[in-house]
Order: sequence, then structure tokens, then C-alpha cells
Amino acid sequence: MTVERSLLAFTADGVLLQPPPDFTLRGTVQVPGDKSISHRALIIGCLAQGTTVIEGILPAADPQSTAQCLRALGHRISPLNPQRVEVTPGAWQEPDQVLDCGNSGTTMRLLAGVLAGRIEQFFVLTGDASLRSRPMQRVVTPLRQMGAVMDGRQNGTRAPLAIRGQRLQAIDYESPVASAQVKSAILLAGLTCAGVTQVREPYPSRDHTERMLKAFGADIAWENGVVELQGGATLHGQRVVVPGDMSSAAFWLVAGAITPGADIVMTNVGVNPSRTGVLEVLEAMGARIEWLNQREVAGEPLADIRVQHSALRGVTIGGALIPRLIDEIPILTVAATFAQGKTVIRDAAELRVKESDRLTAMATQLTRMGVQVEEYPDGLTIYGTDKPLVGADLHTYDDHRIAMALAIAALNAQGSSRLAPADCVRISYPEFWETLQQLYHG
Ligand code: S3P
Repeated sequence: MTVERSLLAFTADGVLLQPPPDFTLRGTVQVPGDKSISHRALIIGCLAQGTTVIEGILPAADPQSTAQCLRALGHRISPLNPQRVEVTPGAWQEPDQVLDCGNSGTTMRLLAGVLAGRIEQFFVLTGDASLRSRPMQRVVTPLRQMGAVMDGRQNGTRAPLAIRGQRLQAIDYESPVASAQVKSAILLAGLTCAGVTQVREPYPSRDHTERMLKAFGADIAWENGVVELQGGATLHGQRVVVPGDMSSAAFWLVAGAITPGADIVMTNVGVNPSRTGVLEVLEAMGARIEWLNQREVAGEPLADIRVQHSALRGVTIGGALIPRLIDEIPILTVAATFAQGKTVIRDAAELRVKESDRLTAMATQLTRMGVQVEEYPDGLTIYGTDKPLVGADLHTYDDHRIAMALAIAALNAQGSSRLAPADCVRISYPEFWETLQQLYHG
């Protein structure tokens, strides 16, 4: 008699993954809404005149943080439901409490830009321990150049951030980092300025803010890492359709590529070129990926993506590609362990200031599973191995993307792994574990 053992067993603080020697992944997944676009639809909706209706929003913890802050600032936002969310802007009011951005860097940095220009109002932005340890100077410096009065812990470099709204001036800013959050904070502040606000980046980062501002009626143009926004335009509420998040699809892309027999289709995935670096890298590694049913909905390109198992080979990634796959590097390191030869990732120092230090997180945890990894200040070398990974006790650093990347590694390891904490997937992909169960064929 055989006793069925479930793949996943949840414990008080984590999850036990017990993959059998033979299984595969098959099926169709609708990945949840894009996190970046969800934040922007809520924020820009509150900056517009008239109602904004959002379809396909991500109802996860990070966008919930943005919605809660915006409600405290005087706006009406219906419960975050992927079917439909209604944003009814109110008069911006000074909240009588601090604004809690939770774990979300996008919430804090974009709202800093919005609030810096709310004349004569005072705001405090804070967040959880991870967010309070992340660099905020990158938004404080340009916003102060625009005339913002703001400060924070450690000489204005860490949250909590205090902001006293001022009349701002347009600037021409050369950003030292390729960061959509920094760029967006400046552009959102620039909406209140007379004249043209310009942002230049070392490499182009995701352009969701630019696309959405344009759709809402702003006078904005961008090309090759330079954005120009003419301040003062009136924005008008729109219907926003949020595509599936490429950063969430990435876990199934890699799971499909490395699991023997796998065949997975992800529907309605956003394929904005500023986000498709992961597809290009997996294709260069030899993954079998098909783009199906390509179309454009509400200013963002979409496709269904099919992935099937295949042999992979190591690659080298760096430079302009990094901002186009910044959140997918943890899961790409997992693909690299199953590839022939080594994979080298450089120019990725930004990973050290995400929800956790993602370079150290992946290097230490993959090492625990028997992988040979070298760590540099700005990257990793991962040596692919023919030997199976070994199940282990794994630490997620309470970082959603590390937890999901390690889950895919553990799924393809020999023996059980325990991952903790595991609840952090709620930040961007609340149904991750259920979807894993659905795709799993033991
Ligand atoms: C985001 C931009 C990226 C990304 C983050 C979301 C955004 O950060 O890592 O998860 O929504 O603008 P940076 O812009 O700081 O690189």
C-alpha cells in the first residue's frame, strides 16, 4: 500500500516541501495583477479628476499599503478586488496619523514625490523594519532640489520620513541609479511644477508611470532613459486594465524550464519591453518559451506565455539588462543551478537594498542546498550542477521573492526542505502556494 504524502505542509511559521522523486508541473495559470501598475493606478487615480476604474488589480499586501495610505489622505478606494476597484479622488487632506507603507518601497518613494508638493500639509511616512532600513536618500536628494522640505532618520536617509509640503520647482535630474521608483517620485512631484521636469537614468527602468501619466492626459515624452514632463496638466480618471505580473510569472517560467515533463501556460502576462529581460535570458539559456496571443490592452502589451522543460546552459548578464529583470534575479539564480556551466550576474548591487539583501540571501541558501556560488559586491557566479540539489532548512529573509525562488529550488531538490518564514508571499503573490499545488502532478 502506498501512502499519499502531500507536497506542502504548513507549520506555524513556515512550509515543508516534500517533493517525491517523480512529478511534473502542468496547467494554465492566470498570474496575479502587476504590482507596479497596481500601485500607480491607485496613486494616479487619486491625482486625477473624476473616477478611475481598475480591473485586474493585485489584491496583495503591498498595493493594500498604498490603498490604505491614500484613504488616510482623503480618497475613496473600494476594497481591492481584481474584478473592479473604484478610485474616487477627494481633497488631499493632512492625515492625523503616520502613513504606514508596510513592506512597500514603491508606496513610500512614490508617495514621497506626491506629498512633497502638497502645500502647507505635513506627513510622516513609515514602514516595517525592512523598509525602514532601505535607502531613501535617493528620493530625498532630488525632491529637496525641487524645494521639498523633508527629513528622516540618519540624516534624512532612512524612514520614518517627515514631509512638509511646499511649492516645488521643476528640475533636470541625472539619477545615479536606474530606478523606476526614484524616477516616478520626481515625475509625480513634477506634476505640480511650472515648466519641464526632466529625469535621466544610467539605463532605462520600467516605464509604467510614464505610460499611465500619458493615458491620464499628462504631457510627457520619454526615450532611451530620458523623460520629460510638462507640469500643470489636468489628469482625467480612466479605466485601467492591469496585466499579469511578469515578476510573478517568472517563478513558473523557471519552474517549467527546470522540471522534467513540465508544460505551463501563463495567460495575460504584461510584456512591456522594460520588464521582459527574464524571458530574453531564459531564451538565451535554451528554455522552450512561446509567446502566444500578443495584444495591447489599455496602453500595456500583453501575451500568453508557454514554457516547457528543456536543457539549460549558463549565461552572463549585466548592464542595461539588469533593470529589465531586477526582481527576477533571485529566481534566475535557481535556473542557473540547473544549467550546464556557470552563470555570471554583474552590475546588480541594487539587489542588496531590496526587501532583503537578495544577493546574500540567494548565495547562502543555494549554498545550503549544495550549489557552488561566488558572491561579489555587485553580483554572483552560480555553477550549474548535474548533481541534484539537496533539501535543506532554508531561510527566506522574510522576503517574498526569496521565499518563492527557494520554493522552486526546493521543489526540484532531493529530499524535503523547510522554508521559513513563508507567509511573506502575501506581499506580491498571496495564492502562490495554491497555484503550486494546482500545477503539481505527482
Ligand atoms: C518598482 C521598481 C523596482 C522594483 C520594485 C518595484 C516599481 O525598484 O525592484 O519591486 O514599482 O517602480 P527600483 O525602481 O528601486 O529599482
